[in-house]
Amino acid sequence: MIDKTISVLALASCLLATPALAQSVNLYTTREPALLNPVLEAFTKDTGIKVNAVFLKDGLQQRVQAEGANSPADVMLVVDVGEINAAADAGITQPVKSAVVDKTVPAALRGSGDSWVTLTQRARVVVVSKDRVKQDAISYDELADPKWKGKFCIRAGQHPYNNAFFAAYLARNGAEKTETYLKALKANAARKPGGGDRDVARDIQSGLCDIAIINTYYIGLMSQATNEQKGWYEAIKPLKTSFTGGGTHVNVSAAAIAKNAPNRDNAVKLIEYMLGEKAQTLYADGNFEFPVNPDVKEAAAVKLLGALTPDTLPLGDVAKNRKAASELVDKVGFDN
Ligand SMILES: [Fe+2]
Repeated sequence: MIDKTISVLALASCLLATPALAQSVNLYTTREPALLNPVLEAFTKDTGIKVNAVFLKDGLQQRVQAEGANSPADVMLVVDVGEINAAADAGITQPVKSAVVDKTVPAALRGSGDSWVTLTQRARVVVVSKDRVKQDAISYDELADPKWKGKFCIRAGQHPYNNAFFAAYLARNGAEKTETYLKALKANAARKPGGGDRDVARDIQSGLCDIAIINTYYIGLMSQATNEQKGWYEAIKPLKTSFTGGGTHVNVSAAAIAKNAPNRDNAVKLIEYMLGEKAQTLYADGNFEFPVNPDVKEAAAVKLLGALTPDTLPLGDVAKNRKAASELVDKVGFDN
């Protein structure tokens, strides 16, 4: 009798163990494999759940939509609030229900109804000439001050990074004030808006401009450069940058759970894991992004630039204002 009980228990535990070994989660992402693989390997090592990652250049949303109810996608991981919000609007996500998410990620950094969750933050800040400008903090509004006339550099106003920034400005200040702001920035421009974010650092080093706007991870990447970009990095100083009465504008890398996720529980586990200290450091350090988990203080971006105080305007509101911001940029001829 005892022997029989033991063997039944042994069989039961064997049956339980077998499916556990086959646990998996399917990830669709537009991020670089080199950036994500260390985190995914750590996840598998710590949880036993295998990650099947599909790395896409673009068209992630379209692919999940085309696959429909049979889509194997569990987790979608992309950059840019517009991109992740569009997936939610297209109805291909489901709410992320997780106490870990609720505790770790402020509501402003989640989609409405928890349709997506921020993993890392990409802040857009002001940099100045280290030699020619003597101040340590600034508001975005101060960029419009005529004292910067002929000294301000920025990439194209229609670029997604600036579009998101202007959309945030619009959500906070309304259309009339935003139009005035865009005109003032244009009047201060040292050159036609264009090029990339790193080019503004180059143009500060050359003396073409004294003040510019840049995503923080480029500052980190330039700090590690072994070519002329190291000199660009050494010519600039990032300022503590905030909206008047608010925080720093951030864009995000974010994750959502696919509506038809076949492994939903594992999708939640992967997202929760990515919010933990080990994964946040591994993932954020790959591109000098800021961890969304405030307990992670050893990440490269935090060590180089200091802690981040993201603006509290919900990113969903930023996404909603992108089209209107783009129209205002055209209206004032910002990129002409
Ligand atoms: Fe970028």
